[in-house]
Amino acid sequence: MISIFRKKQYLIDYLEGITDIHNHILPGIDDGAQNVTDSIELLDRFYDLGITKFIATPHIMNDYYPNTPETINSALSLLQNEINNNEKLKNTDIRYAAEYMMDQNFLELVENEELLTLKDNMVLVEMSYFQAPINLNQILFRLQTKGYKPVLAHPERYAFYHTKDLTKYEELKNRGCLFQLNTLSLTPHYGGNMQKIAYKLLEKGMIDFIGSDTHRIQHIEKLSNIVINRKLNESLLKIISNTKEKFS
Ligand SMILES: [Fe+2]
Repeated sequence: MISIFRKKQYLIDYLEGITDIHNHILPGIDDGAQNVTDSIELLDRFYDLGITKFIATPHIMNDYYPNTPETINSALSLLQNEINNNEKLKNTDIRYAAEYMMDQNFLELVENEELLTLKDNMVLVEMSYFQAPINLNQILFRLQTKGYKPVLAHPERYAFYHTKDLTKYEELKNRGCLFQLNTLSLTPHYGGNMQKIAYKLLEKGMIDFIGSDTHRIQHIEKLSNIVINRKLNESLLKIISNTKEKFS
């Protein structure tokens, strides 16, 4: 007899071995881990869930977190020292890129500096939750002229793009953006509307990658409890394997 009580499927069971491409685990340089102890606690919890590979993506945001490759590199060195002496975590693999805010300063960086990439030419970018940059099209155009591929962090979190028909998202895709979904957007964590749009983007096959955007331990706790909505099973597995394939 086929039981109608099918076992719940947890997202975390499919994430084992993935490289987390969006997180704030580096100590003391943004609104994520505040010190090495915080970072180690996050890594320790991730380890227990089977996640040991990371591309750390601290904010580069001119007004709040004016990070540079140097500040990021030295935060990683601090953490790496601690990891090397930690029996459980010593095989943790951390590389770094950044989460670039598309602010006034960003266009200058694009024009004048080499950007930190997730891999190859892929650059993780975000925008304000209140409005898109007025020169968004110019930024996306210049980025691509310089040979970069924009990966928009958590597209589902930009409420000003929430329309039934997802036209704004289609426009961004047509302008060359890849989309990275936050794992917690599969829950009401950021708000019901964000969750709804996350589902829609997934159903429409518009998401490319998945990342945790972990800032603190509570995010990992919530992540470990995410149950996969059966309707999304196939599309989720697809972006998980795409993320694994591209970044492992
Ligand atoms: Fe982030």
